[in-house]
Amino acid sequence: MIKFKLNGRDVSVDVPEDTPLLWALRDELDQTGTKFGCGVGQCGACTVHVGGRATRSCITPVSSVEGAEITTIEGLHPEGEHPVQVAWRDIQVPQCGYCQSGQIMQAVSLLKDYPDPTDEEIDGVMGGSLCRCMTYVRIRKAIKKAAAAMREEKSNG
Ligand code: FES
Ligand code: FES
Repeated sequence: MIKFKLNGRDVSVDVPEDTPLLWALRDELDQTGTKFGCGVGQCGACTVHVGGRATRSCITPVSSVEGAEITTIEGLHPEGEHPVQVAWRDIQVPQCGYCQSGQIMQAVSLLKDYPDPTDEEIDGVMGGSLCRCMTYVRIRKAIKKAAAAMREEKSNG
């Protein structure tokens, strides 16, 4: 049994130690918002947070997250109202949507490091998150909108 915290609750999975976290989440824990893309750490579709940091779950053995806190898109906000999710809706970022949970998880992680990111900082962090529908311009716009909302929220205490 491998135990960790998933979206705030204690969970355990009975799978081989080298099972990718992605499949433990999807197949054992029914968290299907996290997607399979390339399976080799190159596209970002499977991005979740481990200890608050963006992590590619397709190349993360589930045994390596024993005791850790995992957040998936389902756990980002109870009503889907995280400022990044709000900005994503306002800007209407998704097209087919397949890559978008990974994009959002990566963007939330980015904003922890860059509360007021430049285009270069956004491209530097988000560059490895691929979107076949080419939503990159809207992603950048939504990140800036979310960043502004989060800064305002912070300054209002
Ligand atoms: S599926 Fe994990 S990086 Fe592509
Ligand atoms: S919205 Fe279709 S792959 Fe990104």
